[in-house]
Amino acid sequence: MENKDRRDWSEKDLKKHIVDQRKYLWRESTIERIASWLNLSSGMTAVDVGCGLGYLGWTFWRHYGRGSTYIGVDCSIKLLREAQETSPDWSGGGSAFFANGSSYNLPLPDECADWVMCQTLLMHLEFPVDAMNEMIRITKPGGVIMCMEPDNISASLGTSYSSIPSFSIREKLLHLKVLLIWAEGRKKLGRGDWGIGKKVPKMMADLGLMNIDALYNDSSRFTHPPYETDVQKYDIEKMRESIMEKNEDTKKLLWKEYKECFLAGGGSLSSFYRYKRFAETRSDQLEPLILEQLENKTYYGGIGGSHFFCIRGFKPEK
Ligand SMILES: C[S@@+](CC[C@H](N)C(=O)[O-])C[C@H]1O[C@@H](n2cnc3c(N)ncnc32)[C@H](O)[C@@H]1O
Repeated sequence: MENKDRRDWSEKDLKKHIVDQRKYLWRESTIERIASWLNLSSGMTAVDVGCGLGYLGWTFWRHYGRGSTYIGVDCSIKLLREAQETSPDWSGGGSAFFANGSSYNLPLPDECADWVMCQTLLMHLEFPVDAMNEMIRITKPGGVIMCMEPDNISASLGTSYSSIPSFSIREKLLHLKVLLIWAEGRKKLGRGDWGIGKKVPKMMADLGLMNIDALYNDSSRFTHPPYETDVQKYDIEKMRESIMEKNEDTKKLLWKEYKECFLAGGGSLSSFYRYKRFAETRSDQLEPLILEQLENKTYYGGIGGSHFFCIRGFKPEK
């Protein structure tokens, strides 16, 4: 089965995404809550599918790591190499291994793991149910499967509260319409479901998992002067960086992908180009203003919902 998300997550700009976005992704208190909700303990075998740089491995390590084995599986050899190199920094007291492979054909035997997990993997897959089936296959009876996946479609419906001029209602509706068409096309092209988070509990139930439950990512981000907290300082810096260091090739590639999905979703070429002109003009107007506001410390942004879920289900005992 082919992975249609042909993106190489080891590529500079994409990798930045899985590094920067992870920095304050989950509150420590939520991770603690999830760890006890999953019954994590020492001496476990844990498998992380689509592990990237091993984020889930080290994030939960203090809750399960002693005497445990973590196995990260990913289709990117470059990411795995880096994950392997850095794993001695966090995997003390247990072992961390990495294996190259596909989520559709995990290179692991049946019923070998106590805990099988993924984060932002299903949302990129053409056949998320097949991947989930593989995750279940390698889980021991009584073991737990955990998926951290967002519903980015619902998250995009929110209105914003910010120091930069807001869009008109007509512009907001246009943006939303384009986004929904794009998301539909993305699915049709086999590049994944942008709203998958809300569907995972039913998917787990259909595949026979039990005691299914879901927690919300309660990390609410907002920014206002004088940018006191570490998270705010970090977000401000990343915002500045993303405007200053914009890579023209990446931008072109993103628009190309956007166009392919938009057309596959039923949008017309003329409406795509109309939207692209509108979005680029807005960016050209707003970005200097944002930089100026960041410089003179007047920029603010209100709380946004992440619609990011942690869903768990147990494999029935035999
Ligand atoms: C958005 S990243 C998430 C990485 C990591 N789970 C995290 O949260 O930082 C998605 C990861 O899934 C991997 N991936 C995508 N499709 C895959 C597939 N079919 N099989 C295995 N890995 C896959 C990518 O290489 C990438 O590392």
